[in-house]
Amino acid sequence: VKVLVLGASGQVGSETVRAGGLIGHEMLAATQEMCDITDAGSVTAALDAHRPQVVINCAAWTAVDAAEDNEEAAAALNAEAPAMLASACAARHIRLCHISTDYVFDGSATTPIPEDAPPNPLSAYGRTKLAGEQAVRALCPDHVIVRSSWIFGGHGPNFVLTMLRLIEDGDPLRVVADQRGAPTWAGHLGLALTRLVNVGPPGTYHLTGAGETTWHGLASAIVEDTGASVEVVPIPTGEFPTKAIRPRYSVLANSAWRALGEPPLPTWRDGLQAYLHRLGRLSPALIPSRADD
Ligand SMILES: NC(=O)c1ccc[n+]([C@@H]2O[C@H](COP(=O)([O-])OP(=O)(O)OC[C@H]3O[C@@H](n4cnc5c(N)ncnc54)[C@H](OP(=O)(O)O)[C@@H]3O)[C@@H](O)[C@H]2O)c1
Repeated sequence: VKVLVLGASGQVGSETVRAGGLIGHEMLAATQEMCDITDAGSVTAALDAHRPQVVINCAAWTAVDAAEDNEEAAAALNAEAPAMLASACAARHIRLCHISTDYVFDGSATTPIPEDAPPNPLSAYGRTKLAGEQAVRALCPDHVIVRSSWIFGGHGPNFVLTMLRLIEDGDPLRVVADQRGAPTWAGHLGLALTRLVNVGPPGTYHLTGAGETTWHGLASAIVEDTGASVEVVPIPTGEFPTKAIRPRYSVLANSAWRALGEPPLPTWRDGLQAYLHRLGRLSPALIPSRADD
């Protein structure tokens, strides 16, 4: 299948291009310089030049805190651009796979959240991403909306790279322990996205690393799996105030994906170890078990 990936230099975009190539799709990688998704002329030129059967939109405004003071700019990228892209894809009978986020939910759930749970974003970022979903659903009949969470991969920026940098300082890490989610390696997500290119009906899919943890749990795993010896101190959200409010619980049930008969994504810990291996930071004790990452 001929697949055009937008935002191809990002965490998810770069891994999706890589994964699609591995399973035999013809992957066309468009970076922001090659295709600016806020520019209708640039988008239609890319669609008409390459004539893809599927577009995977990995381009977005992803700076969650910065969106609080720049909601209009975030909406241009996360809501208006996907709307225009959805119309352009629909007019050409192209399947549009669009990536969204767990931050469309308000964190009041206590068990994994199904695809049809009512969204209620707490942040500007979440509001703009929800508006993007709604536009894609309304304007492109052959759409696949994929919500993921706590993504790490490529050259970031992401939580894992931040922790690796802080570990170098040797000071205790003080990390929030009262937000729960499912960390997801972009490599595992990218592989699943390339399945949804030609598998499954249109609709909304939750795709996340299996299992769940807190930011403190993830930081502790990073320390352990790199073989570092740094203390990881649990703190409440109140001790690490951020501009945007995050959901306290945003584990997504991957129900629609499982209903296709697809296996669950590997665990977040497996994804973490694969990523650390890629970065050359996996503890030597763990390397033998990961020879083929
Ligand atoms: N990161 C997370 O934890 C997380 C969690 C849940 C869902 N998501 C969603 O997953 C998707 C991918 O996120 P990510 O983590 O891979 O983000 P990312 O690494 O920040 O990548 C976003 C990409 O979008 C590109 N971009 C920005 N403006 C653009 C424009 N006008 N036209 C074309 N491309 C543009 C960026 O290009 P440059 O490289 O040139 O800046 C970047 O490569 C997004 O929809 C995001 O909302 C992310």
